[in-house]
Amino acid sequence: MNILLLGSGGREHAFAWKIKQSPRCKKLFIAPGNAGTLQCGTNVPINPSDFPSIKDFVLKEKISMVVVGPEDPLVKGIHDYFLGNPEIASIPVIGPQKDGAQLEGSKDFSKKFMEKYHIPTARYQTFNKTTLKKGIKFLETLRPPFVLKADGLAAGKGVIIPHTIEEAKKELKEMLCGKFGSASSKVVIEEFLPGIELSVFVLSDGKSYKILPSAKDYKRIGDGDTGLNTGGMGAVSPVPFADKTFLKKVENQIIIPTIEGLKKEGIVYKGFIFIGLMAVPSHPSPSKNGAEKKKSKSGNFYTPYVIEYNCRMGDPETEVVIPRIKSDIVDVFCAMANQTLQKSIVKIDKRTATTVMLSSGGYPGDYKKGIPVYFLNKKGRKDLSELQNKEDESTIYFHAGTGLNKNFKKGNQTITTGGRVLAVTSFGENISEAAGQSYENIKKIKFNGMYFRKDIGKDLMKINKANGKRD
Ligand code: AMP
Ligand code: GLY
Repeated sequence: MNILLLGSGGREHAFAWKIKQSPRCKKLFIAPGNAGTLQCGTNVPINPSDFPSIKDFVLKEKISMVVVGPEDPLVKGIHDYFLGNPEIASIPVIGPQKDGAQLEGSKDFSKKFMEKYHIPTARYQTFNKTTLKKGIKFLETLRPPFVLKADGLAAGKGVIIPHTIEEAKKELKEMLCGKFGSASSKVVIEEFLPGIELSVFVLSDGKSYKILPSAKDYKRIGDGDTGLNTGGMGAVSPVPFADKTFLKKVENQIIIPTIEGLKKEGIVYKGFIFIGLMAVPSHPSPSKNGAEKKKSKSGNFYTPYVIEYNCRMGDPETEVVIPRIKSDIVDVFCAMANQTLQKSIVKIDKRTATTVMLSSGGYPGDYKKGIPVYFLNKKGRKDLSELQNKEDESTIYFHAGTGLNKNFKKGNQTITTGGRVLAVTSFGENISEAAGQSYENIKKIKFNGMYFRKDIGKDLMKINKANGKRD
């Protein structure tokens, strides 16, 4: 079958890499893609939110499945557009319709949903311009830090965590007065949850579900989780403390009520559900003996709370989760479309995967684009496009913000086109082995201003050590 994948980041390169391995995929098109997805299929210059152009392309190229990477087209209703258009209504779209995408598109909707279905989350209230005074009063009932969330999509920047009540009040006013445009015409204020963040990913076909591996994202720009927030500077999968006990709690208290809640709301959700969790320490009474102490540090020690839902996969989490899926991803997508997920088996590689994101100097602030990206081998410096994944079995180089220089005449010149440039993914028997491999292979990549975090996975290794596990 011919497949169209929408998006242009590291997540989409990881999807393209995996889809291309399926014998069921004849032609793969990526709109708009990047220099990495070119190794897996044909890039087409169409904006993922330009639905009429997507329709024309789908008909012209006899596309039989559309896989949606980013949230924007889903929240804008690409799946509904297909269903409402007789010529393309029978073509499966992997990603929820507008009603399901609200889980990400509206924080107020998702909090109400969690409240209604008793899904553990932080205490909250939602305010608008007319209820500003009540919002200020609610802030006064909370302890710092304060969590303020723009209701709508704000390019990943809509969550503000002020540390003083004065700052929080000022932020609330600014947000309600249009700091994030219409996205912050409503603001969710919620209790701050202390703990460790991690994510679980769920496939849903509208009837049943499958749980994919957990992952941890490293959101801050600096080592030790310091500095500004980014789209994500690295990821690890699986998360060691998310053991069977913890994941069972997540399944029973969060995943099952979410799937059942969607059904009760009449939402037929065919796509990924990315559940951002906070694992909050349960503070057991001080342990007297070794056995209790050990137990207290396992998954039993943490209670999961939902921080957010997303209606898509994470980036860079996809770059560690997708490579761990051993099954044919196109089979899995077909099962999602046909609502036969319950019968399908999704096999997972037991090894650990880590990815380290290489970013442009200055990111997440201002940065330059158009910088050539090279790889270094024994023969010297070559364009990145000459680094085929098969050359280095232990590592996969997923492109995030790259393109080809159109003005370059002597072969290819890969250049940076974004803040996050390349995700270097490796496998290992444990985190230190996998991360060690990623860091070793980063030495082969070079571009002016290249930056990356040096501590991906280190916090999890510490937790492992405390649990007496090798890593
Ligand atoms: P969100 O877009 O909802 O994922 O929020 C962005 C980030 O803010 C999350 O990844 C967390 O680091 C942080 N955050 C959001 N909600 C809370 C909360 N209730 N308690 C603590 N941190 C939070
Ligand atoms: N890495 C976080 C996200 O994709 O939203």
